[in-house]
Amino acid sequence: MRTDKERNLLLKALDAFKRKIVVISKDFRILASAGVDALIDGESPSGKCCHQVFYNRPEPCDNCPAKKVGLTGKPSLRDISSGALSKQKRSCLYAYPILDEDGQEVLTIFNFELPALEGLEEELRRANSFLYNLLQSACDGVIAADLTGKIIIFNDAAAEVTGHSVEAALDHLNIRSIYEGDGAREVMRHLRSDEYGGKGKLKKYRIKAIGKNGERIPISLYASIIYDEQGKEVGSIGFFHDLRERIHIQQKLEKTQLQLIQSEKMASLGKLSAGVAHQLNNPLGGITLYTKLMLEDYDLEKNAKEDLYRILKDAQRCRDTVKELLEFARQTRQFMKPLNINKSIDRTLFLIENQTLFHNITLKKKMAPFIPLVLADAQQMGHVFMNIIINAAQAMDGNGTISISTRESATKDRVIIEFSDTGPGISAEDLEHIFEPFFTTKEEGKGTGLGLSVVYGIVENHGGTITARSVPGRGSTFIIELPITRETEKGAEYAEHA
Ligand SMILES: Nc1ncnc2c1ncn2[C@@H]1O[C@H](COP(=O)(O)OP(=O)(O)OP(=O)(O)O)[C@@H](O)[C@H]1O
Ligand SMILES: [Mg+2]
Repeated sequence: MRTDKERNLLLKALDAFKRKIVVISKDFRILASAGVDALIDGESPSGKCCHQVFYNRPEPCDNCPAKKVGLTGKPSLRDISSGALSKQKRSCLYAYPILDEDGQEVLTIFNFELPALEGLEEELRRANSFLYNLLQSACDGVIAADLTGKIIIFNDAAAEVTGHSVEAALDHLNIRSIYEGDGAREVMRHLRSDEYGGKGKLKKYRIKAIGKNGERIPISLYASIIYDEQGKEVGSIGFFHDLRERIHIQQKLEKTQLQLIQSEKMASLGKLSAGVAHQLNNPLGGITLYTKLMLEDYDLEKNAKEDLYRILKDAQRCRDTVKELLEFARQTRQFMKPLNINKSIDRTLFLIENQTLFHNITLKKKMAPFIPLVLADAQQMGHVFMNIIINAAQAMDGNGTISISTRESATKDRVIIEFSDTGPGISAEDLEHIFEPFFTTKEEGKGTGLGLSVVYGIVENHGGTITARSVPGRGSTFIIELPITRETEKGAEYAEHA
């Protein structure tokens, strides 16, 4: 039993407590109240429902803490963590169960409005929540760590870039395991120095982060040291973005730029070659003609004759090169007519079969018996096949097998011609360059490197494509596709292969 003195002291203490208190029954009827006079215009609230008196509602409030006490029998604090940014005024913050002397359960409700301190707490909570949302919704990765390296902030973007989950990062990752090598220490060293964007600051610093699967991720980092009020270091924070996409685009751009420069170079080289070729053509014709005349008209010594034959041979080699250059610069005219590719290949083979280079080479043909015609310049096509076949024979050093096949594409709009050899093949690196003018792996004087670039130009001029495949050590295959023409060769849509 409490004494009167005790009771008085308790009541005074309650008054001094300066909080609004209401005692209600389990069905929300007010049994007693303190400090709520201003809310109810002096009228005694006893016996009335709290929700009616204070909020003018017919039903108890949705988020009433007393409701929870009714359900659990335990003290309840109204949940204010969610929607912390809402402007809703807080009220009825706490509810406690109490037993009266007869053992009957009643409840107390504290606080209808937030006193100053709680208002500040609330503001702080809102500000924190706002900052948290800000960090979370940032497109850049944000990571903060304390002085031991323990991660204290790790946003969604950081998780996306590194592959670590936010929970894992906050739970057990150390900032040192986020950067490659000694990166974290380097960042701190730069931060403490004056030379990288001011003391305590680091701007646009390129470093590699380590992803969850061990991949090295290039990032651009902006970092700062976090100081407390006394100016003591308490941690660091970094904002970064993934550079992979940018680096990839940059590399592609550089490659395209290089290609552009290369093709411009080639175009001017082409013009120059054409000019030089024209200039050389006449004197070369003269050299050939007069050498032949000397051989025919004079009775020369054996040695002199041999020398003249050498001059003739070299002059002819020069003329061949000039011809190639003119082809390369597309200075030759085209005579397009419907052409039977099988026949064209046969003609080429007829010309080369008896050359010494082909004596130990087996030629295997697998021609489609009926092949649609293509619109092409017969001479140029012959040149294409000749170049590819000679390349193959040269690559095999005159020993091996060349297989040639022709067929109609499954889509029935193209003719496909394949040349395969059993030579040494072409490395992946060389394969990228073989169609470029002047690319050759042959020793000086043995190849100009123009052969395949001329082939490429001719095929492209015919609306076709040429590709090369090779497995080093297991030969090479060149595939040409040419569009079919609807025109006929002397009225015959299909020409039979002999
Ligand atoms: N069948 C093949 N097997 C292996 N390498 C090949 C083959 N065909 C072409 N090459 C490679 O491609 C390069 C370029 O060929 P291209 O015909 O353009 O020039 P080249 O044969 O070197 O010189 P040119 O044709 O002027 O005599 C060759 O030097 C060679 O390295
Ligand atoms: Mg060649």
